[in-house]
Amino acid sequence: MYSEIVMEHFQNPRNVGEIENADGIGEVGNPKCGDIMKMYIKIEDNVIVDVKFKTFGCGSAIASSSMTTELIKGKTIKEALQLTNKDVAQALGGLPPVKVHCSVLAEQAVKAALLDYSKRNNIIIEELEGFDPTEDVHHH
Ligand code: FES
Repeated sequence: MYSEIVMEHFQNPRNVGEIENADGIGEVGNPKCGDIMKMYIKIEDNVIVDVKFKTFGCGSAIASSSMTTELIKGKTIKEALQLTNKDVAQALGGLPPVKVHCSVLAEQAVKAALLDYSKRNNIIIEELEGFDPTEDVHHH
């Protein structure tokens, strides 16, 4: 049912933890399954130099967060905002249909962390206009 990559990231998740003095923190949750994901980012010159996560959730959510941290580390804010849950699922070798929302949570967590960063620094990130991290996570 799960790809080897999913299993591997679930068993050895990368970048687990918190960043002290993070530049942005995003927390999102899915009200249906009750899973919660928190993402911490460190930004220098518009580049995500560090990212860590804590996920209280299912194995797919953990694997998705782990993969997401690897995908956005070293990327610019703009590049990170282009990451979709489909990219995450694809990088994981696919997710079963009932687990697609777990990858949506990871995409939302990145956006929520970047939104927090933009608010703290009083900058406007166009791509995030209209994004509401507290909104119910929809299945794309
Ligand atoms: Fe909800 Fe995976 S079952 S995030």
